[in-house]
Amino acid sequence: MTIKALVFDAYGTLFDVQSVAGVTDAAFPGQGTTITQIWRLKQLEYTWLRALMGRYEDFWTITQESLDFTLRTLGLSATPEFIAQIAEAYDALSLYPEARSALEGLASHRLAIFSNGSPAMLKRLVAHAGIGALIETVISVDEIGVYKPDPRGYAHVEKRLGLAREEILFISSNGFDIAGAKAHGFHVARIDRVPSQQLRSELAAAAHIDPALMFKALRMQPEQLGFHADASIAALTDLVSYVAGLERA
Ligand code: LAC
Repeated sequence: MTIKALVFDAYGTLFDVQSVAGVTDAAFPGQGTTITQIWRLKQLEYTWLRALMGRYEDFWTITQESLDFTLRTLGLSATPEFIAQIAEAYDALSLYPEARSALEGLASHRLAIFSNGSPAMLKRLVAHAGIGALIETVISVDEIGVYKPDPRGYAHVEKRLGLAREEILFISSNGFDIAGAKAHGFHVARIDRVPSQQLRSELAAAAHIDPALMFKALRMQPEQLGFHADASIAALTDLVSYVAGLERA
């Protein structure tokens, strides 16, 4: 099988969304974990709500609106300026530890990012991580004003790369994104950040389910929508041998 490009999801796949916790905890000491989880859950929920409402706003707006929701829900107050300042944490996320070496190891392939992020956010994110030279192009849903998992988004990726869907390997750790990409017809590799067995052990051992554990259960497991990844791998660096195997097949 001929894979001509590898297309990576950004938030949660190359970049660790949990890395905003330092900023949220500095802003509201002791509440960082709770804010971080509700914020991320609500951020994606708002993409889906705005899509259904026919009221698209870009991901920077959604990132601030979902943080506003989170702080109000927790009874915390912040000015719009402070909200924007905290939200900038999304432009300075840490790369997952193995992401850079994975991208370097895959340098003989065309590599792209396809993300909900606005073009400006993604530009800052990629620049902050210093991976711009490793990525051929960054594709934002904002170019067509839809959110994942709208099939028009994945179709836009084909158009931008000038490739057929069978020629694209899509990589994500977000269940909804995997289901959407697979429903569209991409070959999909899932990065399994929280193996289900490990999650079950954590749930069994927990005296109560804290927000971080709830997040893992809600967002880091495969969705049961009938569209599953072609492969599940533990880390981005495993893509090197996975792609080599696909090319031999
Ligand atoms: C993205 C979402 C899935 O990067 O977070 O598109």
